[in-house]
Amino acid sequence: MTYSHVAALLHWLMALLVIAILVLGLFGDALESIISFSAITLHKSLGMTVFLLTLFRLFWRIGHRPPPLPETTPKWQVGASHAVHLLIYALMLGLPLSGYIFGAAGPYPMQFFGLDVPKLAIGEAMGETAHSLHEIGGFTMAGLVVLHMSAAFYHHFVQKDELINRMRPWRAA
Ligand code: HEM
Ligand code: HEM
Repeated sequence: MTYSHVAALLHWLMALLVIAILVLGLFGDALESIISFSAITLHKSLGMTVFLLTLFRLFWRIGHRPPPLPETTPKWQVGASHAVHLLIYALMLGLPLSGYIFGAAGPYPMQFFGLDVPKLAIGEAMGETAHSLHEIGGFTMAGLVVLHMSAAFYHHFVQKDELINRMRPWRAA
């Protein structure tokens, strides 16, 4: 039993996007000495892309339920993996929203790959709250991604089970 083609393709595309966004967000300043474009401008555009793709992915998930985990999976692992996946989904929506809100409260233009995005009138206090939430959420996302990838590698290299095959686009039904 595997995830659907579309779910698996979205998983890998969005995994790359989220990792790139985290690198640009966390190391943008350092990167700007070696890249010729604005790290944060690309961070914002990729973040908005993740928001739109997440809406589609969740919509798709309603009609294409993930395959059940093997009966032998310990209960705590089922619970932990569901909790981590849920939090990642919540942050893939919450981070772009908080990023937009604090960006809209600030002086810089809001653009999606060069296209102007309307800025709602956001007060300074709300902008600051969204900024703090974005930072806390951003670090939480980085931690969850490390945890999630460690669990996937543990299954693959230590337990040598078939878990990763559930997410292989070319094997998916
Ligand atoms: C080397 C990197 C990665 C590997 C090997 C990997 C592997 C997997 C596997 C095997 C599953 C299915 C788990 C299951 O059957 O219960 C999964 C699910 C998931 N992964 Fe990853 N993953 C990686 C990176 C990422 C990243 C960076 C993100 C961040 C967006 C991510 C987000 C998710 C989400 C949200 C699910 C749940 C999908 C759903 O049930 O709808 N993954 N991953
Ligand atoms: C999945 C989507 C996103 C993730 C995972 C993410 C993650 C992060 C992380 C980890 C940081 C660094 C925080 C720090 O070092 O203090 C950051 C900073 C930032 N993010 Fe995002 N972000 C996302 C989407 C967005 C979006 C859509 C926008 C704007 C529309 C945005 C605007 C910003 C800005 C302006 C900063 C710099 C913050 C500062 O000056 O302290 N982000 N983001």
